[in-house]
Amino acid sequence: MTFSLLSAGAEHGAGTPAWAMLAYLVAGVFFILALRGLSSPATSRSGNRNGMIGMAIAVVTTLIMHGTNLIEIGIAIAIGAILGVTIARRIAMTAMPELVAGFHSLVGLAAVVVGLAAWLNPAAFGITDALGQINAVSRVELGLGIAIGAITFSGSVIAFLKLSGRMSGSPIMLPGRHIINLGTLGAILALIGLYTVSPQGGAGEGWMVIAVTILAFAIGFLLIIPIGGADMPVVVSMLNSYSGWAAAAMGFTLGNSAMIITGALVGSSGAILSYIMCRAMNRSFISVIAGGFGADAGAGGGAGGAREQRPYKQGSAEDAAYMLEQAEKVIIIPGYGMAVAQAQHALREMGDKLKEKGVEVKYAIHPVAGRMPGHMNVLLAEASVPYDEVFELEDINSEFAQCDVAFIIGANDVVNPAAKTDKSSPIYGMPVFDVDKAKQVFFIKRSMGGVGYAGVDNDVFYMNQTVMLLADAKKMVEEIVKSLD
Ligand code: TAP
Repeated sequence: MTFSLLSAGAEHGAGTPAWAMLAYLVAGVFFILALRGLSSPATSRSGNRNGMIGMAIAVVTTLIMHGTNLIEIGIAIAIGAILGVTIARRIAMTAMPELVAGFHSLVGLAAVVVGLAAWLNPAAFGITDALGQINAVSRVELGLGIAIGAITFSGSVIAFLKLSGRMSGSPIMLPGRHIINLGTLGAILALIGLYTVSPQGGAGEGWMVIAVTILAFAIGFLLIIPIGGADMPVVVSMLNSYSGWAAAAMGFTLGNSAMIITGALVGSSGAILSYIMCRAMNRSFISVIAGGFGADAGAGGGAGGAREQRPYKQGSAEDAAYMLEQAEKVIIIPGYGMAVAQAQHALREMGDKLKEKGVEVKYAIHPVAGRMPGHMNVLLAEASVPYDEVFELEDINSEFAQCDVAFIIGANDVVNPAAKTDKSSPIYGMPVFDVDKAKQVFFIKRSMGGVGYAGVDNDVFYMNQTVMLLADAKKMVEEIVKSLD
């Protein structure tokens, strides 16, 4: 049996055998369990496993149902698996957002290619009417699938280039960009509408589909270039959402319910994640999409410009070790700098040493610490920090008033009190850790000149109880560990 024979009768799932529908449903349940598992570090492994089982069921079902040439598909899967494993083993944790952006571009491209294949050979996809023409509903699905796929592809390529430093992270603001973007989006929708109602097989048909594809590639590019590198993680999650909707649209075209379920899950979870990230950064979703954040010199981890010189205290690893071992309770706040320095293993060792000395150690994780959702959780889990020592912002913030030492390692914006007090600050309104309430604060960063992602000064550096530990995070923690021996 060939792909075309089977799928010809499978228009919108109508010809899908009952066993395959059931298998797709089971796969869908596994995908939902996967998302549920991935919502906590403690269950993330089982979440991953459920996702893999669901995908295996969906792929095997599709292969059996379509009687596909297993040798060809096997070769394709083997090539993909080798590439996937090689990339996953080589990629540095800090490069994860750009890798995700790169992978999303492939999902978008796949949607475009499937859409164009269905358009060129509709009979094989079972989307023809009695006259052998593509039916109206499938035209809408095709048009939307190609458009969303193309936007996802070019948008993700720009996100990848910006995140990997191959293209400047600063926003590129074209004059009149909002009008150009709205006009292009309007043109894409109008062309899809025209294609849907145009006379079947009419002369303009081919032209319309090609125009939709080209315009959608262009709008993906135009939408992402004005967004600063700083907002890229939100963009990656938004593109993730788009790739899900593109897959769902293609699922309708192919009459494949597994693709519809998976696409809808990816689409909605990506949209929810984007919303949560925006809320945690106190940015509106619209302002991220409209772009431009990071255009000013300071924002986006820039140089920060001239800053007033204020007195601060500087300490050494020995000073920190002495105070830490005297403490009853220490709260560690990791941030982006810990990820850059890869200091998580040394940090766990420090925590272990302190616990041996009877100190209570807790880790406080801000929802947007680092540069991607769950960034700190993943790094601490990699270093085998026990999950029950890791706390979310809302669960631990009230404990700073009773802690002896707040140990800030490579975090900056997430402990900046300006978020609570300075209405003019770009981070105003973002919930932050109340480290100012701790008796003693140690603050690891490399220099007083460096700024965080938002590019603003931090009053915590200059507080009475703060001691700055100016060094690479990993080196500093390793020295503290030595001094604790
Ligand atoms: P940041 O505010 O970005 O601060 C990072 C700090 O690490 C800086 O003080 C930097 O100072 C220091 N640092 C860098 N490399 C270091 C090294 N090798 N050793 C020691 N210190 C080092 O970090 P954060 O507190 O984690 O805040 C995250 C920020 O990213 C927030 O503003 C958030 O809104 C934004 N953001 C997060 C996400 C997600 S989803 N997590 C997404 C988009 C944006 P020096 O240069 O002086 O060392």
